[in-house]
Amino acid sequence: MWIDSRHQEAIERAALSIRHNMKKVSGDHWRPNYHISTEAFWMNDPNGFSTFKNEYHLFYQHHPYSAEWGPMFWGHVKSEDLVFWEHLPIALAPSEDYDLDGCFSGSTIEKDGFLYALYTGNVWTGNDQDTDLRQTQCLAVSEDGVHFNKSSKNPVISSAPNGDIHPHHFRDPKMWKHGDDYYCVVGSRTKDQQGQALLYRSKDLIDWHFMNVMAKSDGQLGYMWECPDFFHLDGQDVLMISPQGMKPKDYRYHNLHQAGYIQGKLDYETGMFSHGDFRLLDYGFDFYAPQTIQDFQGRRIMVAWMAMWESEMPEQKNNWAGAMTIPRELTIQDNEIISNPILEIEKLRENAVQYKNITVEGEHTFNQISGDSYELEVIIDAQASLTFGVKVRKSEALNQETLLMYNRAESLLELNRDRSGSGPKGSRVVPVKLHDNKLCLRIFIDKSSIEVFINNGEKVMSARIYPDQTAKGISFFSEKEITLIKFQKWDLNKSVSNGSIEGNSSS
Ligand code: FRU
Repeated sequence: MWIDSRHQEAIERAALSIRHNMKKVSGDHWRPNYHISTEAFWMNDPNGFSTFKNEYHLFYQHHPYSAEWGPMFWGHVKSEDLVFWEHLPIALAPSEDYDLDGCFSGSTIEKDGFLYALYTGNVWTGNDQDTDLRQTQCLAVSEDGVHFNKSSKNPVISSAPNGDIHPHHFRDPKMWKHGDDYYCVVGSRTKDQQGQALLYRSKDLIDWHFMNVMAKSDGQLGYMWECPDFFHLDGQDVLMISPQGMKPKDYRYHNLHQAGYIQGKLDYETGMFSHGDFRLLDYGFDFYAPQTIQDFQGRRIMVAWMAMWESEMPEQKNNWAGAMTIPRELTIQDNEIISNPILEIEKLRENAVQYKNITVEGEHTFNQISGDSYELEVIIDAQASLTFGVKVRKSEALNQETLLMYNRAESLLELNRDRSGSGPKGSRVVPVKLHDNKLCLRIFIDKSSIEVFINNGEKVMSARIYPDQTAKGISFFSEKEITLIKFQKWDLNKSVSNGSIEGNSSS
């Protein structure tokens, strides 16, 4: 039933390419310590995030031949706790007529003890990557969660359905189970370029029946919805989407593409999703194509690609590109999704430092406290100050810093990377209310990234930054006196092991 050898050869060739290039990558000071990235070369979307046989598996879009996007493979890491990750052999490689130009994004699900992957087979039919493409949905299965065989029935969804549905842009299936049936939502657009999501149902993961256009853009939500994900959380149905082409509006939608959600109720009979407004999941620069799972403890956990299409990625010259966000736990509070780092991340903490009730006016540098891989938690009492904040990855000698500044008159928090070092610049702002005149920040720094969880996950901002390796300073500043009621910092240890370097090689 399963076709095998061409696929295995393509995987082995790719593994060799990675093995030959890993050394070049390992010395780079921008390599993340505790965020997932490739062993070498390019990464984009998280794929197939799943639990299987007591472990977490995360696959990702991967080009194992250069640090640029190219024909896509599925890279693979696994973990017992979402913190310590181990690289595994490439899971999917383009090898068949229907996926020759890429195994694009998709999802996995466990059924009868096997792990099934549903992904998009991509084939270029001409030179224009926007118009000349054929995308179909394809199935692969694994008994051990590591080695996958492609189905002889592929493609299991061989074309986009009829109707006001673009025939070619049809990708990124995300599966889930409801009752006795399997469902999947596929990213799509209408013939006149409005993003939409298509709902399918199946009994066996092989025969899929189109049910309906589950939801679509009202004209404001972009020309294509990539990487949809659907789940039930705290009494709500949630459809996460990554819309391409939304226009900037006030402080929102300034990245090339957006990632957010709409929530409401899915009618499993009609396949229609009634929902409210679109909301962002992250207000920084680098957050796209998030994917979620429900984990062993029933939590909803999300991981996203911490980069952005067409953004400058200085690490490419060092033979790698891209990283994942910290896994974030999602909950709903006052009808909005809030995201916080998974609890387990605290396992990485060491060298704790704690201060209480420190007053700051002007700028205060903590000489004993610095770093490039740490967590910093601070509760700031704003008192009467109108502007205040924190600078990280700071070097006075090099005039580098990454700035977080609160502006009370406008109730906006700004993340500014104009002086972050090499690479992309700019600033993003997000509305943030003080609670009891206090601002609470949890900041995660890792070599070439910053993630800021604001007021216990009410808002999040993520960005890649590329400071000099000596830029490690931390300072607080304020126009008038503020009090750092509690200020804690922990170094965070390395948590991603290179399977191949440590002899656990890709074979
Ligand atoms: C989203 C995306 C997906 C596609 C994949 C290709 O970032 O464009 O729609 O499947 O990346 O790598």
